[in-house]
Amino acid sequence: MDALDALINRTSCPRLEGPAPTPEQLDLMLRAALRAPDHGALRPWRFIITEGEGLVRMGELFARAALKADPELPQARHDKCLQMPLRAPMIITVVAVTREHPKVPLDEQLISAGCAAHAITQAAFAQGLGAMWRTGEMTHNSHVRSGLELAEHEQVVGFIYLGQRCREREAPMLDLAEFVTRWEG
Ligand SMILES: Cc1cc2nc3c(=O)[nH]c(=O)nc-3n(C[C@H](O)[C@H](O)[C@H](O)COP(=O)(O)O)c2cc1C
Repeated sequence: MDALDALINRTSCPRLEGPAPTPEQLDLMLRAALRAPDHGALRPWRFIITEGEGLVRMGELFARAALKADPELPQARHDKCLQMPLRAPMIITVVAVTREHPKVPLDEQLISAGCAAHAITQAAFAQGLGAMWRTGEMTHNSHVRSGLELAEHEQVVGFIYLGQRCREREAPMLDLAEFVTRWEG
């Protein structure tokens, strides 16, 4: 796929089926992530790959986290948490690894990690795969953080759900004039 095609026409895909991306497809997505713009070449990111049985374990982690946060958790919510990671055959958890730096503020490092997450969705789309960037209450949950073995200076930027696209969606054609001005001094 042409690079501009991918950039302009990428859409998310909430319903994703197996098979999971191949090792070659995964490699390309991660290489795209590593080319995210990065002030100071700090590489403020890391990527956790989960598939197969790991997705079941992730659902259990989410369910335990929800139960810890609310001991009265309704059964339906508990079951939903168990199922959440099973919405795709692979999840890449994108983790921002930010550190105090004399020149590069933490915000900029977080933005770089976000760009890396977006590059994964772009590279998925360019390879005919589907992707969906999700966050939600599990993103900053302390039980989930320790289950994923995050250090103090790390945070989840997103869970990128990946798999085969079930349904094609057209990208909305927005009006540029709504978002663009020129500044001429
Ligand atoms: C940081 C971030 C977090 C997101 N979290 C969720 C989420 O938890 N659930 C969800 O349905 N969409 C979430 N989205 C939005 C979807 O990934 C997607 O962009 C949206 O459904 C619009 O689809 P499109 O990308 O095809 O325009 C998130 C997007 C970003 C950038």
